[in-house]
This record gives sequence, structure tokens and C-alpha cells, in this order.
Amino acid sequence: MANPLDGPLAGTVALVTGASSGIGEQTAATLAGLGAEVAVAARRVDRLDALVKRIEDAGGRAVAVEADVTDEVQARAAVTATVDRFGRLDTVVANAGVMLLGPLVDADTGEWRRMIELNTLGAMYTAHAALPHLLAAAEREPRRVADLVITSSVAGRRVRHGSGAYNASKFAVGAFAEALRMEVTQRFVRVSLIEPGAVATELASHNRPEVREAIASRFDGVERLAADDIARTIAFVVTSPRHMAVNEVLVRPTSQQE
Ligand SMILES: NC(=O)c1ccc[n+]([C@@H]2O[C@H](COP(=O)([O-])OP(=O)(O)OC[C@H]3O[C@@H](n4cnc5c(N)ncnc54)[C@H](OP(=O)(O)O)[C@@H]3O)[C@@H](O)[C@H]2O)c1
Repeated sequence: MANPLDGPLAGTVALVTGASSGIGEQTAATLAGLGAEVAVAARRVDRLDALVKRIEDAGGRAVAVEADVTDEVQARAAVTATVDRFGRLDTVVANAGVMLLGPLVDADTGEWRRMIELNTLGAMYTAHAALPHLLAAAEREPRRVADLVITSSVAGRRVRHGSGAYNASKFAVGAFAEALRMEVTQRFVRVSLIEPGAVATELASHNRPEVREAIASRFDGVERLAADDIARTIAFVVTSPRHMAVNEVLVRPTSQQE
């Protein structure tokens, strides 16, 4: 097997939030395989420790960082822990998210808060804390460019009946990303939105039973993407040459119509 430390991200450091499962877990392993030293953040430390072991067993370097990124202090601490451990920060994947679907009429507004606080504010807090480090990394070798990747969703591009609050959380983070992109792109910090369709992860499992059934029937017969499909997409984005910024990528399963 190739030595990760010879890969295209050698000499760089990444932080991935929501790395204890699904897309974040696979993305962290992929970035480590490309040579980045990776901080993996989430709340379930046992899962993060297993991921660190998986990365180290493959010849990479990683550290687990316990963080609830809905708390601005913890989001900032995750960034600080990454820089304290590895000395810099070149790539951030603000990926932690929750999807709680259902009608807006008579909705549990606690579910709205959970989504806005994580999908929108959690990503924004992570970005805010990381930006000084990303701007500094963009001026340094080996890449002289840095990346903030935000995992949005098809739901950040298209409104669906029954997804209103999730749509709101993802549309909002998309607006933030575009405004930030304009602000920092000429300083060679690239801001990229990844917009997956259905991916086989734990995401839907946090819904109420009737919503889980509705999601299952909506995607009946659809071959979902694997987390690895999105990890490879993110790898493409962050290993693109310095002059090329992949601003937005919508990736659906081929058999997903909407
Ligand atoms: N799966 C899909 O079909 C799909 C489609 C479009 C977009 N997405 C987006 O992809 C991203 C990743 O989702 P996934 O599909 O990989 O789902 P997942 O397997 O449920 O992963 C979600 C991750 O977020 C973390 N997380 C949850 N609350 C957190 C908090 N307060 N602070 C820090 N981390 C937290 C979870 O870890 P802990 O519980 O350990 O904290 C977990 O690592 C999300 O933003 C989601 O909206 C997914």
C-alpha cells in the first residue's frame, strides 16, 4: 500500500466534524490516506478512538477531539486542539449534521432548534474559529491554498414538502458559504458546498418512526450512495489545483429522481 505521507495532502492538517459515523468518518479516513494529519471531532469518543486506530493502522496520523459543535466554545476548542496537536490547519470539513423531517404545522420546534443549531450555527462556529488558521495556511507551503468544505444537501438546493426546517438549515448554510467564499477566495481559501442526495448512513435513524417509514418508502428501489462516494468527492475538491475552486457539488444516487 502507498505511504499516506507521500500523498497529495502530505504536510497539511485537516479537521473533520461529525467524524464518528457516516460521511465524516469516511472522509477523515480518506484525507488521512492522502497524507493529511487529521483531527476527528464529534460527541461519541469511543467511535472517534476506533477511527483514529483505523487511520493509524493504515499508516496515517489522527487525533480524536470530543466536541459538541452546537456550543461555540467547544467548536472553537476543537479548532484549537487541532492546531495545538498538529501545528496548523489547512482543510476543514464542517460536516456534523442532523435531519429531522416532518410537517411544519404542529411541528416540535425543538427539532427545528436542533437542526439550526447544528447544521447552520455549528458549521458557522466551526468556520469562524478556523478561518484565521485557514487564511494563514493559504499563505504557506506546501499548497498555498486552504479549504473549507461544508456538507450541505440536495435539501440546500431544493425545497421539499415535509423537509421545511431541514431545508431552512441547509439553505442558510449555503448562503453563509457563498458570502464567505466571496470574502476569502482572493486570499486562496476555497469554500465548497457538497450537496449529497441519499447516502446510506445513520442520518435518517434519528427521526420519529412514522418519518423513518416515509423516508424508507420515498427511497424504495433507490440504490443509495455510500459514504465513500461523498468522501471521494470531497477528496477531489481539496486536491484540486490551487487555481481551481470547486464551489458546489450536487451528488445524487443515479436512481434518485428529485
Ligand atoms: N446521509 C444522507 O443521505 C445525507 C444527504 C445529504 C446531506 N447529508 C449531510 O451529511 C452530513 C453527515 O451526515 P451523515 O449522513 O454522515 O449522518 P450520520 O452518520 O448521522 O453522521 C452525523 C455526524 O454528526 C455528528 N454530530 C451530531 N450532532 C453533533 C454535535 N452536536 N456536535 C458534533 N457532532 C455532531 C455525529 O456524531 P456524534 O453523534 O458522535 O456527535 C455524526 O458523526 C450531515 O450534515 C447531513 O445533513 C447527509
